[in-house]
Amino acid sequence: MNDLTAESIRRALPGWVPEVRFLPETGSTNRVAMEWAAEGAAHGSLVVADYQTAGRGRLERTWLAPAGSSVLASVVLRPSMEPGQRGLLALAAAVALCRCLEELEVPASVKWPNDVLLGDRKVAGMLSEAAGGVVVLGVGVNVKQQEFPEEIAATATSLEQFTGRRFGRLPVLEGLVRHLARLVDGPVEQIVPSYRPWCGTLGRRVRVDVGSGPLEDLAAGIDPAGALVLAGGRTILAGDLVQLR
Ligand code: BTN
Repeated sequence: MNDLTAESIRRALPGWVPEVRFLPETGSTNRVAMEWAAEGAAHGSLVVADYQTAGRGRLERTWLAPAGSSVLASVVLRPSMEPGQRGLLALAAAVALCRCLEELEVPASVKWPNDVLLGDRKVAGMLSEAAGGVVVLGVGVNVKQQEFPEEIAATATSLEQFTGRRFGRLPVLEGLVRHLARLVDGPVEQIVPSYRPWCGTLGRRVRVDVGSGPLEDLAAGIDPAGALVLAGGRTILAGDLVQLR
């Protein structure tokens, strides 16, 4: 059943979203949202696609999802926070998705900075891109996939594959946007405290590339800017890490 249509999205979403563009197929919803923002799209404007031909991931990766399988959405934000705090918005998106999944009785956690995991497998990713005063926050949630390309088959999952239950994409999109709206328009100082309880990286040993090579240490904390603080005292501002057993 395809529960994601322009009309169903408009009906389900909170008043926070001023306008929705639903695209059966596009290159990247982040790119469309960026272009829309340049034309003046208001805070909260939302782009949703059924299929992306050039989905973008973090660290110059691609984001692949079969048509109709996922929530693929980008929201235009015009945040009032300082430019240096805007990186917190992707953490807020991860928290929003975890809260939404909790309502759907799916226990999720966040691998720093903003991969959402079920068990040790990635179910969703966030890509935040900024231009001028605008931040476009893109979220990809695997909902219906039963299998994945070989390269990610051992590390990815979907809501349906992991739980063995059926999920509509609309409740996931609705819950995500509802929780995101509260976090984005709430006090910025509350984003990191709301993030910490979901962050499964904390208290685990991690391997992270620090430029000079890989470093292994215990993940000890998240600082107010959203950076990962290691037990040895190093602060990791961005990047990709492996959570060790
Ligand atoms: C990651 O690498 O973990 C981030 C993935 C972000 C993918 C989403 S899908 C919707 C939006 N449009 C894009 O091109 N990317 C993001």
